[in-house]
Amino acid sequence: MDKNRLRTLTEPFKIKMVEPLKVTTENYREKTLKEAGYNTFLLKSKDVFIDLLTDSGTGAMSDKQWSGIMMGDESYAGARSWEHLESVVKELTGMPYILPTHQGRAAERILYSILGGKDKVFISNTHFDTTRANIEYTGAMAIDIVCEEAKDNQIDLPFKGNIDLLKLEELIQQYGSVSIAAVIMTVTNNSSGGQPVSMANMKAVRKICDNHGVLMVIDGCRIAENSYFVHHREKEYSHLTYEEIAKEMLNLGDAFIMSAKKDGLVNMGGLLTVKDEALSVKCKNMLIISEGFTTYGGLSGRDMEALAIGLKEVFDKDYLHYRIRSTAYLGEHLRAKGIPVVWPIGGHAVYIDAKKLYANIPVNQYPGHALVCDLYLKGGIRCVEIGSVMFGKYDENGELIPAANELVRLAIPRRVYTQSHIDFVLDVFDDILELTEKAEGYKITYEPPFLRHFTAHFEPINL
Ligand code: F0G
Repeated sequence: MDKNRLRTLTEPFKIKMVEPLKVTTENYREKTLKEAGYNTFLLKSKDVFIDLLTDSGTGAMSDKQWSGIMMGDESYAGARSWEHLESVVKELTGMPYILPTHQGRAAERILYSILGGKDKVFISNTHFDTTRANIEYTGAMAIDIVCEEAKDNQIDLPFKGNIDLLKLEELIQQYGSVSIAAVIMTVTNNSSGGQPVSMANMKAVRKICDNHGVLMVIDGCRIAENSYFVHHREKEYSHLTYEEIAKEMLNLGDAFIMSAKKDGLVNMGGLLTVKDEALSVKCKNMLIISEGFTTYGGLSGRDMEALAIGLKEVFDKDYLHYRIRSTAYLGEHLRAKGIPVVWPIGGHAVYIDAKKLYANIPVNQYPGHALVCDLYLKGGIRCVEIGSVMFGKYDENGELIPAANELVRLAIPRRVYTQSHIDFVLDVFDDILELTEKAEGYKITYEPPFLRHFTAHFEPINL
């Protein structure tokens, strides 16, 4: 492997405040995992050493953001902090109607409950789990059509988050454009390896949507990370800054949904923006019923202030370079050890192919879940399965219909862990490599009807 690829970058920040981490033993972790029903979502965070469960809301804010917190205007209506946030988001998206929400899924619920309903169809490169759940909850159908190249998780191509344009045309013909509630472009494509979407693909989707009169929604919670890839991989855009690329891409959409807990660089927050006035009125009515008045949504003034600052900071070229390279550092080193990782490495996370790594565990015994448990037991590392626990369904005989992939995601919180934390994670994988032959599968002992991975209970098969 090219030595340069394995090189990392020094963090372009220094640490001003620290949060101690508890060092635990494997015996202790065996007990805590059992008490959590073998579901790492149900662990207490104090029992986790390196938390790679999500990059959502887990980032560290900057000194500028913390000082913005002190300037938050907590007025119920028309707060200064709202004006600040609204102007930043208008400039970024080019959209006139901006709604603040407490997080991404609140924006999803508002928009998709208005657009959805029985007989409606949503088409996406890949729906994230809360996106799919909010759509299916309205009785509508959610169809994923990621490009064919993405199905080979080793092929080295630049934009494996793209949607399959031919299938998009076919599906619109098949269901008829009036039945298509929206095409949702998830940027970067989280559930499909965190892979980026090209500007060319987005422009082609815009054209198809225009031809058929279909709404185009951009789920852009990682829009800055995607812009980094566009700048470096799509020649026509290498002269534009990351922020300029994001603006051009967001301008293509009719609506934009953002969980600000990612590239907003805040711990809580969301956004819904739309171009159409009539749609904005419907959304605002829903917002007031469930989230709050239109100038704060579910957010306090200080949250909005920090978000307005975060949305500018995230496009800093040194930050974005460090961000993407430090994720790649973990992925490239894992690959060098022989761990099957989804390739190339995406923006916010490294995805491991657990079906390959734990090849002796059948899919109906959840190899991804087994790896998640082993990483916790061996190193106190917490991560998440994106496979048949998250997306599996049952047929009429109660047999598992597995997900397309059995992945495990190691998501990297923004500006939180240093390179030595990541080197520790790499060391733990040496232990994992020693036990792959002996690794054991799991069965589900309890599950709720929606989003089961959050609260399901498990047991090792051979307990
Ligand atoms: N869309 C995408 C692409 C997401 O990744 C998420 C959240 C959401 C919508 C929902 O936003 O959590 O603020 O309500 N992803 C997190 C994750 C949870 O871990 O990937 P939310």
